[in-house]
Amino acid sequence: MMKLVIRTFVVLLVALSFMPLAGGRGEAVAAENANPVKERQKLMRAVGKAMKTTGKMLRGDLAYDAAAATAAMATMSDVAGRYAKLFPEGSDMENSIMDFDQESDAKPEIWTNRKDFEVKAVALLDASTKAGKAAGDKAGLAAVFDEVGKTCKGCHQKYKAKKQQ
Ligand code: HEC
Repeated sequence: MMKLVIRTFVVLLVALSFMPLAGGRGEAVAAENANPVKERQKLMRAVGKAMKTTGKMLRGDLAYDAAAATAAMATMSDVAGRYAKLFPEGSDMENSIMDFDQESDAKPEIWTNRKDFEVKAVALLDASTKAGKAAGDKAGLAAVFDEVGKTCKGCHQKYKAKKQQ
């Protein structure tokens, strides 16, 4: 009998000690994903800006700046690593479940082909990581930069409604 009481007490203690932790974590995640549509669009705009600046440098419209080009590729890699997590169920272009008061270009296929969508995000991560390593000089980056651009199209054609890229 005593054994059972002790065991029950221990179980209760363990359960209690985990409860605030679990609650806190849940809240943090919810806050982070409060508006995933807005967040992912903001991140993608940063990718678009990085792409534009780098393109200008490679075309010679801007002086080549190795540090800026490396930073632009790092921005892309950072976004690519986090991007696929910002597509919770129901946050598609019709905003069917969530009321975000926000237009989204995300096609419903993202959720039916989730694995493929994630593969395409990893493709951007890989290409921008490779390009970042090559960005020390203009010729080096120019040789691999097309691969980065291809990953934008590769994903947008299938999963983004308005073709901006
Ligand atoms: C893994 C898929 C994927 C890859 C790779 C990707 N995008 Fe996107 N992008 C999207 C999706 C999906 C949207 C629409 C998001 C939404 O509206 O909810 C989007 C939206 C955008 C937008 C519009 C953001 C806004 O203000 O609404 C820009 C600009 C953009 N992408 C640029 C790029 C560039 C440049 C690249 C390549 C360097 C790229 N994207 C790679 C999936 C991708």
